[in-house]
Amino acid sequence: MTHIETRKQRHIRVSLKEKVEANITNGFEDINLIHRAIPEVDFSEIDTSIILYGKKLSVPLIISAITGGTEEAKKINQTLATVAEKMRIGMSVGSQRIALQQPETIDSFSVVRDNAPNTFIMGNIGCPQLSLGLDKNQAQKCIDMIQADALAIHMNATQEAVQIKGEKNYKNILTKLKELNNEVYTPIVMKETGCGISYEDALKLEKAGASGFEISGLGGTSWAAVEYYIAKEVEDPLQEHLGKSLWDWGIPTAASLIEVREASKLPIISSGGLRSGADMAKSIVMGANAAGIARPFLEKAIEGEKALEEHITKIITEFKSIMFLLGTRNIQELTNTPFVITGWTSEWLRQRGFNIQKNAVKGR
Ligand SMILES: Cc1cc2nc3c(=O)[nH]c(=O)nc-3n(C[C@H](O)[C@H](O)[C@H](O)COP(=O)(O)O)c2cc1C
Repeated sequence: MTHIETRKQRHIRVSLKEKVEANITNGFEDINLIHRAIPEVDFSEIDTSIILYGKKLSVPLIISAITGGTEEAKKINQTLATVAEKMRIGMSVGSQRIALQQPETIDSFSVVRDNAPNTFIMGNIGCPQLSLGLDKNQAQKCIDMIQADALAIHMNATQEAVQIKGEKNYKNILTKLKELNNEVYTPIVMKETGCGISYEDALKLEKAGASGFEISGLGGTSWAAVEYYIAKEVEDPLQEHLGKSLWDWGIPTAASLIEVREASKLPIISSGGLRSGADMAKSIVMGANAAGIARPFLEKAIEGEKALEEHITKIITEFKSIMFLLGTRNIQELTNTPFVITGWTSEWLRQRGFNIQKNAVKGR
């Protein structure tokens, strides 16, 4: 097994076995939706569908990037893709770097499109690869192997900082993104991996040609935590220490979502610690176009298609029930719903200079 395959396996094993969640919440407890005593809506007529980068989804939900590159990953991707297609939700693959380096692993990614011919599928490659000179042909290979509807470029500076021999050169990413964007016609989604995106960075990324964002804020799976366990296992005390110190580094998802929505009108996938239909509904009300969930879906995929499908059904039913209680008949109406920001998130956003009061009187 190659070094990169071993790493992939460790990520899966550590994420399933250890406590890898941030100690800080995603901030959605500060987002308050306004109950409608008279919703004036027939539940059975509620339309939860959306169009994401040209693909129709039954609900604004995607399986965030998880894996690919090993036999185990192939099985997981097959399960995720089968359920994604059946329920018509979107799905991302994990980093495709391994498939560029070891073409024999391509089938662990292409299995996704084979089992999900119609739904939204997103490719995935990292900023470190951009920095190391990822070119148009390699990016196109990632897109072609899964006939991707969009390509996510993940920003994982925290993980690289904690990872043993991590790739810590993040220089000139924006210039490289601009070049890549001029040469690749598939939309490029800039995705964090658990630390969120700020207003300032969203502006820069849009200017460099990004076609959208996946927030992946703080409050869910912490990559500093995952790398902490790996450093501990291989007895690297310095990186272990760093993993512990940076465990809760980042911008909580709720605050980051507002920051990015203030900066840009591009499509946003809200992710990072989303665990329920309520988190999903709050995300859409706050301006996200879709919600993304990673680790809980991995846990269920290991159990099998049925467990995953049941879990997603629970989340979707909760989401639709909240749409009902807010008196909204479709996603457009949900987006126009007012909400009140309290607590830590309110304090953060006020100090950052955003007018949050406008959200509480939206649509009046
Ligand atoms: C086992 C595992 C592997 C992951 N691999 C990738 C990856 O290859 N590329 C990426 O962009 N994000 C990756 N992520 C990050 C997720 O896509 C997501 O941004 C993050 O886990 C936060 O979401 P969650 O709290 O719902 O897990 C991975 C997450 C997990 C749990």
